[in-house]
Amino acid sequence: MKNIAIFASGSGSNFQAIVDAVQTGELAAHISLLVCDKPEAYVIHRARAANIPSFVFRAKEYPSKEDFEKEIARVLSRHNVEWIVLAGYMRLIGATLLKQYEGRIVNIHPSLLPEFPGKDAIGQALAAKARWSGVTIHYVDEGMDTGPIIVQERTPIEENETRESLQQKIQAIEHKLYPSILKMLLTIGDGKHDEKARTY
Ligand code: GRF
Repeated sequence: MKNIAIFASGSGSNFQAIVDAVQTGELAAHISLLVCDKPEAYVIHRARAANIPSFVFRAKEYPSKEDFEKEIARVLSRHNVEWIVLAGYMRLIGATLLKQYEGRIVNIHPSLLPEFPGKDAIGQALAAKARWSGVTIHYVDEGMDTGPIIVQERTPIEENETRESLQQKIQAIEHKLYPSILKMLLTIGDGKHDEKARTY
């Protein structure tokens, strides 16, 4: 069973969906750690309730990204973490973690990338009057939501769509898709060494 760390900055509904999938046996993984850069984030309560240890930090208390990522890397090694799962982590991953976990960092994003990367993808799609939105799961590289795409699932944007209704549809997709794709990835191996991971 693979050890994973989930990185999150906010409410953590995706964190919860993964925890639930592990608890029901749908996903054979061990969630070793939550990494969170926002001490007030609700996801920290979810981790505590699930008995999952957290590493919580404030970026501004470190001189640089390299410094806090080196500390994260040490904590991950201590917990024997093999994969990093980003679930609403609102920072770019830097060289330190990318090097240590090459091909083993994934992210979920609420748009059909490459459309609407970055913050507020749902608001961006509505403002652009896009007809479709959806969810992308992708490997992480140094860019903003730019790594190789593993899977996408789309949902239509209706005439009367509101931010709330679109968010609800997208989250419903995310909460099913992320655990099932993690199951596949943790079974077949990393994106660097296993071409099957890229052609799924
Ligand atoms: C999700 O929509 C995810 O796609 C994006 O950030 C959001 C996090 O939501 N990267 P939650 O904290 O998991 O509820």
